Amino acid sequence: MEKVYITGIGKYIPKKVLTNHDIEKMVDTSDEWITTRTGIKERHVVADDQCTSDIAVLAAKEAMADAGLKPTDIDLIIVATITGDMQFPATSCVVQRKLHAKNAVAFDISAACAGFPYALSIASEYIKTGRFKHVLVIGAEALSRFTDWTDRGTCILFGDGAGAAVVSNVPGKTQSEVLSDYLGTDGTHVGLLNTPGGGSVHPATHATVDQRLHYIKMEGNAVFKIAVKSMTEAVNGILQKNELIIDDIASLIPHQANLRIIKAVGKAVKIAEERVFVNVDKYGNMSSATTIVALYDAVRSGVVRPGDLVVLVAFGGGFVWGATLIRW
Ligand SMILES: CC(C)(COP(=O)(O)OP(=O)(O)OC[C@H]1O[C@@H](n2cnc3c(N)ncnc32)[C@H](O)[C@@H]1OP(=O)(O)O)[C@@H](O)C(=O)NCCC(=O)NCCS
Repeated sequence: MEKVYITGIGKYIPKKVLTNHDIEKMVDTSDEWITTRTGIKERHVVADDQCTSDIAVLAAKEAMADAGLKPTDIDLIIVATITGDMQFPATSCVVQRKLHAKNAVAFDISAACAGFPYALSIASEYIKTGRFKHVLVIGAEALSRFTDWTDRGTCILFGDGAGAAVVSNVPGKTQSEVLSDYLGTDGTHVGLLNTPGGGSVHPATHATVDQRLHYIKMEGNAVFKIAVKSMTEAVNGILQKNELIIDDIASLIPHQANLRIIKAVGKAVKIAEERVFVNVDKYGNMSSATTIVALYDAVRSGVVRPGDLVVLVAFGGGFVWGATLIRW
């Protein structure tokens, strides 16, 4: 089996900022409510002429430059997204064209907020078997296009952004190695978090649009509890699988949906608060982009240092959850 290395990372956050005060002007809410219930202060949204593949490409370019690779060196592109450019084809095909990565095959995966750990797991298996040498793994979302800006229960939570990693069979500038992953799925709660309209159940009609079914729907309270339970299981699961204890982990990098969820998971797995990375205040929940952007910020700010054992953990609609163990 080949080893799996992260040889480059990149991110792109759209320039336009939407603060809690901006949202106060749109729905009946307050900066104080959003801050205390979620920890979010602001999020970014794509420009009118930007779509998911555009921001995916910008993150990917940085990751490839970081890895010292050209687009033609990439064998496979996986885009994790729930807000693709179109219903089909895959956004990864658009990314392949925009990057001129003509040697790469490309597909998307839909694993909502767990998209990055899921995509990284697939990439790792392809590398381990020797099938591919360099895989571009991207998490990219333009959630603002699917957010109901009249629903205060959801519109406060989400933001747009993209992150990317190059995963290779040889080390890059650092020895950052993907060691293991842990994935879980429970499809019994599909109704708690979804975008019901526009699929084969409710194809787009005037009625589905009038009923706002093309926007994200969520039972926030129920999702909160399952998120804490599932991410706790994923962290404990990956530790057990690798015969580690929580004290071995230098940084926990959780999905950034809500600061209260992050704190509850940290408490449940008994890790000191200062070892749990947080950037939800700046970006909100960017779904598939969140964990890779958090890893990027943790590395670039010096929180994660070479040699550190790091656990990424995420949870999303499906429900799906996953953790990745990395020695940075
Ligand atoms: C959405 C979420 C922030 C709501 O927080 P909460 O503490 O559960 O709040 P509740 O839904 O119980 O609502 C409490 C009250 O606040 C109100 N409220 C909801 N959103 C509000 C807002 N933006 N501003 C002000 N009040 C709001 C509710 O109407 C309710 O009022 P009521 O008591 O008069 O009925 C929280 O449930 C959450 O973060 N859930 C998980 C979301 C998530 O992470 N999803 C993605 C997973 S990947």
